[in-house]
Amino acid sequence: MDASKNEYEDWGDSRWEFTKSRSMWHFDTKKPPSLGIDSYTPVCRFRADFAESIATCMPCARASSWGTRNHFNKEIAQQGLYTATAEEQDLIRAGADPNAEVFHRTAAEDIALFRKISDTLGMDDSMIKFHNQTCGQMLHTHIDNFAARPERENSFKVTEMDRDPSSMRRFAIMLADWQLGQIFQIGNANFTQWRAGDCITWEWMDMPHSTANMGWWDRPMLQITGKVTEKTQWLMDASLLNLSKPGSPMIEFNL
Ligand SMILES: [Fe+2]
Repeated sequence: MDASKNEYEDWGDSRWEFTKSRSMWHFDTKKPPSLGIDSYTPVCRFRADFAESIATCMPCARASSWGTRNHFNKEIAQQGLYTATAEEQDLIRAGADPNAEVFHRTAAEDIALFRKISDTLGMDDSMIKFHNQTCGQMLHTHIDNFAARPERENSFKVTEMDRDPSSMRRFAIMLADWQLGQIFQIGNANFTQWRAGDCITWEWMDMPHSTANMGWWDRPMLQITGKVTEKTQWLMDASLLNLSKPGSPMIEFNL
């Protein structure tokens, strides 16, 4: 364990190539998707009125590019995000604008309803982010690495979550019903026609995913990333068991 303190990842000039190289996914785009670890796992639905929390976050949510997406973190804003160069090189190689807007985002740990959701998911040390993807914004295909987690220290240092990806999990909770033009692709699957409160997750180190909003309507979403506890694991086990039994009712929480 101590030896790994001096271990650093080598991303070269490509986030995509590095993260792909450590993914366990098959990358066979002709294979039909199945829910669960091959794409995404539907977890539960939170029944709540999100209107007030959304209204509080909206004015704070700042239009972000790949390079500026963690600017709510003062240290990262000052130093620059350690992954940004490799990410921008991927964009430039593909002929994309490295400064293109990917979403609006703000930290949302202080919103009581969102903390309640995080607690229900059993997350420890959770980071709670409010996203709003608006018409024309897109988040290019990527595999997660949780660059803003404090454990990373804004560096390529190998951390516990890299050695044991199951120790950390990210959940996405949609805060409004799906609208035409809103795309959320994970592996070969398209997560679509969601309802407000729907919560999904995916295997962060394995699954390529992308989002875009080609529609006229806002796409508010909550992103919660934290350490997995027994409570989280219980919910995950229940979700995967549900998937194996077609027709099982979705797990619901009234908040
Ligand atoms: Fe992601």
